[in-house]
Amino acid sequence: MPCPLPAGFLACLLLLANSLNAYQLNLRGITRHSHRLLPRAGPIALNNSADISYHADIVLGGQSFQVLIDTGSSDLWVAGNVQQSNDTTLDSTIYYAIGKVEGDIRTAHLELGDYLVENQAFIQVPPSSTNPDGTGILGLGPSSGSFILSALPSTTGAPVLDRLFLQDPSTPNYFTILLGRNLDPSSFFNGTITIGSVLPEYNQITATPKIPIILMSEVDSHNQHFQARLDENGIIGPDGKPIPLGSAISEGEDGRATAVLDCGFSLPQIPRTVADSIYGRFKDAEFMTVKGIGGVWAVPCQIEVNVTFIFGGQKYPMHPLDMTLDPEVLNLKDMTNSNGVPVCIGSFQPFTYDRGGEPTYDLILGMAFMRNVYTLFDYGDFISATNASSSSTNDPYLQMYSITNISEAHQDFVKVRLGGIDTTDQQGLLDNPVKNSRSNTTYYVIAAVAVIAAIVVISFLIICTRKRRQRMKKEGARE
Ligand SMILES: *[C@@H]1O[C@H](CO)[C@@H](O)[C@H](O)[C@H]1NC(C)=O
Ligand SMILES: *[C@@H]1O[C@H](CO)[C@@H](O)[C@H](O)[C@H]1NC(C)=O
Ligand SMILES: *[C@@H]1O[C@H](CO)[C@@H](O)[C@H](O)[C@H]1NC(C)=O
Ligand SMILES: *[C@@H]1O[C@H](CO)[C@@H](O)[C@H](O)[C@H]1NC(C)=O
Ligand SMILES: *[C@@H]1O[C@H](CO)[C@@H](O)[C@H](O)[C@H]1NC(C)=O
Ligand SMILES: *[C@@H]1O[C@H](CO)[C@@H](O)[C@H](O)[C@H]1NC(C)=O
Repeated sequence: MPCPLPAGFLACLLLLANSLNAYQLNLRGITRHSHRLLPRAGPIALNNSADISYHADIVLGGQSFQVLIDTGSSDLWVAGNVQQSNDTTLDSTIYYAIGKVEGDIRTAHLELGDYLVENQAFIQVPPSSTNPDGTGILGLGPSSGSFILSALPSTTGAPVLDRLFLQDPSTPNYFTILLGRNLDPSSFFNGTITIGSVLPEYNQITATPKIPIILMSEVDSHNQHFQARLDENGIIGPDGKPIPLGSAISEGEDGRATAVLDCGFSLPQIPRTVADSIYGRFKDAEFMTVKGIGGVWAVPCQIEVNVTFIFGGQKYPMHPLDMTLDPEVLNLKDMTNSNGVPVCIGSFQPFTYDRGGEPTYDLILGMAFMRNVYTLFDYGDFISATNASSSSTNDPYLQMYSITNISEAHQDFVKVRLGGIDTTDQQGLLDNPVKNSRSNTTYYVIAAVAVIAAIVVISFLIICTRKRRQRMKKEGARE
């Protein structure tokens, strides 16, 4: 993360339980050692809460916790009091793209599905209304982003997956994530994680292109995430044409954008210009600020938004139910635009936080994107930070297998949003983005002019003050 924050970032739009507070979290994670993976340990089931958070059940020190799974961060924390645990006398703060948690670093026996780790380090956070007792986050990201590991730089401080991979070198260093769609009428499932194996029904994933993970330089290694380059012209908009998209990242000279795969974000985060191209040309589209969520495009819920991403020459179409979010899911009843037209929330949201002056990524592809792909995250030599001799030396990579069938997805949309009557051929696209987006642009231009004017005035004042001081000094010297 570009911000002054150490390592992780990854915001996630986390609506915990029934609370309406939207949180954006971000993320970071290493490990190694002792216990054997059970032979043929099975997949780990996820609980999908309204498509905005996916939880796994873990048992820590004999107690159960529901932890949000997060590829954007690298540490485990839980809210509560883990009785059967050991104190390390250390404490730590995990900074996310938005928000942070802090508490004591403790160690306890961890059970994750069939997997066991002795003395897993975690942060114990005091329960609060935002972090209720029994909840937490399980960071699955690279250990270079781990806050616990940097406080406790030994195997003991390593993140959960590192511990698992290192304790059994015969297990391949990868995990996979499958996220289900709550309202999917044709293929419903909650979601699954596997470690060191792939789901048999999607084993074609191993034949998809290996997309290299972009490695951060040593100094920036705390910002290491699962990030990869989109293809050139790698986002196809609703008009079937590529959306212009440069890269803000100086190292990406070829202009291809860098995307982070982060299931800690409910709403993918994208540049405003890209969001405008996706949503801004539909009739009745409007950019608005939603409490607890921030600035989003809103479009009538009947509008089918078709978008496709391209990685490694492979097309990954988005399910139209993932492109707009029914506000009722967030307990926002009767959301309308300024003309009183009922609207849904554009799930691909312009960045709600500052990526800083030197961003290391252009897009965060969160849950709404990840529901459309079965993803394999290969740690490669990320693990070797703890023990080169026992780990893989290949470069880390991603593999994505498209699980969205566009004709089925279209039928799903017609069923769920249009009551079975296909009117999508009448929706059309305006030639230009709606006025609203232009006026917003104007607003920003005015704001930018105002900021520049303020800088000029302030610089002028500073120069004047300095000159006056110098003059005064000179005069004083003369006296
Ligand atoms: C799934 O998550 C919901 C909301 O967080 C919770 O109420 C429910 O108990 C969970 N179900 C299971 C089986 O974990
Ligand atoms: C999905 O999760 C819910 C509760 O978390 C559970 O009741 C349901 O059986 C699960 N469905 C499937 C298909 O796994
Ligand atoms: C606490 O530390 C002791 C001594 O190292 C160890 O035997 C015990 O297993 C640890 N307990 C837990 C819950 O990690
Ligand atoms: C690395 O792992 C190997 C095999 O597990 C072990 O023998 C060796 O002592 C470890 N090296 C370090 C530096 O921890
Ligand atoms: C997509 O789904 C349709 C209808 O279920 C099916 O006929 C078609 O073969 C599927 N296409 C692919 C590429 O799987
Ligand atoms: C979206 O894509 C589907 C599948 O190609 C197509 O059937 C549908 O007409 C498209 N909808 C719009 C509004 O372009």
